[in-house]
Amino acid sequence: MRKVISINNGWLFCYQYVPGMEKKNDFEEFEEVNLPHTNKELPYNYFDEEDYQKISCYAYPLEVTEEYRNRKVFVHFEAVMAYAKVYVNGIYAGEHKGGYTPFDIDIADKLDFAKKRNYICVVADATERDDIPPFGGEIDYLTYGGIYREASIVLYDDVYIQNMKVETYKVLEDKKDVCVKLYVKNDCDETKKAKVAVKLIEESSESLIYEKSFECNVKPGEGMYEFNAEGISGIRLWDIDNPNLYEVEAYLSWDGSCSLCKGDGSCDCFKDRIGFRTCEFTTMGFFLNGKKLKLMGLNRHQSYPYVGYAMPKRVQEKDADILKNDLHVNIVRTSHYPQSRHFLNKCDEIGLLVLEEIPGWQYIGGAAWKEVAKQNVREMVERDWNHPGIILWGVRINESADDDEFYTETNKIAHMLDITRQTGGIRCRKRSKLLEDVYTFNDFVHEGVNGPLRDQQEVTGLDHKVPYMVTENNGHMFPTKRFDQEERQVEHSLRHLRVQDASFRDDSISGTIDWCAFDYNTHKDFGSGDRICYHGVMDMFRIHKFASYVFKSQVSPEKETVLEPVTFWTRGDRNIGDFMPLVIFTNCDYVEFKYGDNEVKKIYPRREEYKGIPNPPVVIDYSVISREEAGEWGELWENAYFAGYHNGKMVIERKMSKNPLPTELKVEVDDNMLTASEKDATRFTVKVLDQCGNIMPFIDEIIKIKIEGPLKLQGPDEVVVKGGAIGFWVETLNKVGTAKVTVDSARIGQSVHTITIQ
Ligand code: GAL
Repeated sequence: MRKVISINNGWLFCYQYVPGMEKKNDFEEFEEVNLPHTNKELPYNYFDEEDYQKISCYAYPLEVTEEYRNRKVFVHFEAVMAYAKVYVNGIYAGEHKGGYTPFDIDIADKLDFAKKRNYICVVADATERDDIPPFGGEIDYLTYGGIYREASIVLYDDVYIQNMKVETYKVLEDKKDVCVKLYVKNDCDETKKAKVAVKLIEESSESLIYEKSFECNVKPGEGMYEFNAEGISGIRLWDIDNPNLYEVEAYLSWDGSCSLCKGDGSCDCFKDRIGFRTCEFTTMGFFLNGKKLKLMGLNRHQSYPYVGYAMPKRVQEKDADILKNDLHVNIVRTSHYPQSRHFLNKCDEIGLLVLEEIPGWQYIGGAAWKEVAKQNVREMVERDWNHPGIILWGVRINESADDDEFYTETNKIAHMLDITRQTGGIRCRKRSKLLEDVYTFNDFVHEGVNGPLRDQQEVTGLDHKVPYMVTENNGHMFPTKRFDQEERQVEHSLRHLRVQDASFRDDSISGTIDWCAFDYNTHKDFGSGDRICYHGVMDMFRIHKFASYVFKSQVSPEKETVLEPVTFWTRGDRNIGDFMPLVIFTNCDYVEFKYGDNEVKKIYPRREEYKGIPNPPVVIDYSVISREEAGEWGELWENAYFAGYHNGKMVIERKMSKNPLPTELKVEVDDNMLTASEKDATRFTVKVLDQCGNIMPFIDEIIKIKIEGPLKLQGPDEVVVKGGAIGFWVETLNKVGTAKVTVDSARIGQSVHTITIQ
């Protein structure tokens, strides 16, 4: 039976590799680190991006025990940026190009059983080598260095399952079929008579739904063996509201049968999760399980302040959670590369659809570069083909020019490996040749006054409709900081609203995935000059900008009531000293508004204007409140009161003060309980609130963060709130205990939190 040994703790690290380092026998002067690891902790903004573009060296002291003897031994990396060369005891063992996909290196014959300590050494090259995508041209994001995902050692017997693909058929019928494809390697020089047992277990109830045994002859070398299980009943479909998951376990035994397969002998087992669902992009939109679903989503970069990509499981999962359960979108695009398996697993668990794509940004390199890109398609599909959440493969370099030969190949690879999903390829040029199943287009047409989205045939140049989806909009057309002036934030929100509304109005558009979920660090050639692209509907700490409420307010009020006025509530932040039009993102039936002592106004959502989107906003303008009532520049400023009604009942209220004063330092932590066994992390958010509980957008308060106990702060321990709020993450150090985190502001007070690390 295979054995997987996690090797995330206790790596030794040197930021600057010096040739010959891989041959060392001791790494005493190296720093001890845990994975996921970034090769350089960076400032929040204004840094030199070349700081992480280094060749670094990692070493892992491996104790080779007797159980390694006569077995296949692989070291498995989930991702290393971007060119990794692996050595064992100074001997070259293998390498991998590409910073976003996993790889295995066979190290069995390099191990020295006589040595107490063997060293696995990784030379991790994070420079922008032009033979590896996405490099070669300019890129609007950073590709932080290091072994930034997890690693393990895997021991196998002579026969083992390299991968498993599970396909589901007759999904919408009562009795469903499953085809399990096992990719098996037989390292003996004879054919093995094997038994295969396939089990299907419902994850929520842990009950065994189906079990079947097969016999097969496993030939020497690599081969794919198919097993069909038919007529399975009692299956619940996977969809975005009920993401029912099933575990598939495949046991392969030979030379007799092993205990797990009811006997004894040699055995291997492969487990993965699946869901039963159908998905199809058509000329009439997208269909999930045969039902039409308008896709509304956001693009996600997997980056974070300070540590770049190197965030552990919990934080990766949290992003999926924010997208699905806070912003209430139904699809995410993993722009512009395959992302952490933890993120994708969470998407499966909570019912968030995914468009996953290969690494790249506008630039197409030469022959060697293209080979790596094609390999990226293979590695992405082979890693992720069982995720029910993934509904489309992106097999073009984001926004690159047409290259029919290259993209015919990438499409062919994806289709050959996976016949169950359509392909897309994200372009920004009109009339680009459609080689994929779905025309996926970044439509940046909207400039505020014109139409929000193009007609698909104007884009494709075809004389007929094709399956079509918008994969980006807004972004650089209207960058907006969370601490920008109110008027700009109103327009930022309205632009996202108009685009989404237009998408809902056009049946031939499957949906739109806006640019983007979170602000992100970028190269000097992009963004606001401070190495940040402020294109998110949330900031880098995942704190809301007003535009995020466009998405959030589309949720059903039965799930969560939303009432978010896009205002700082001032007389003088906007030009000409006015607070109108006051846009309120809400899913209520109507909103009551009271300004000072004036009469209460009842206002309904702007359905005539926004005919598409499920929940249009409420807008307060001079048709609602007269100029005399509202007053003007130079007149007294008053309090505001908003109440949202649903089914005749008041369900939510908000107050705004005419005289806001810093009243509360609101500090929240995502998790109070963390894991000690491996690197874990959680986020704190810090907000300065007024007496009505509203963020104070222009306060520059110094925040001091003090940690006592076994936790490490990511980033500096003294920060300034930006736009009234800031966040930070703390990470564990493989020690159990209790940690105290004190967040202190001289003016507003202190907040103390206890975190248990188990
Ligand atoms: C697109 C690109 C994205 C991002 C965006 C900004 O062209 O695909 O990565 O740069 O522009 O709006």
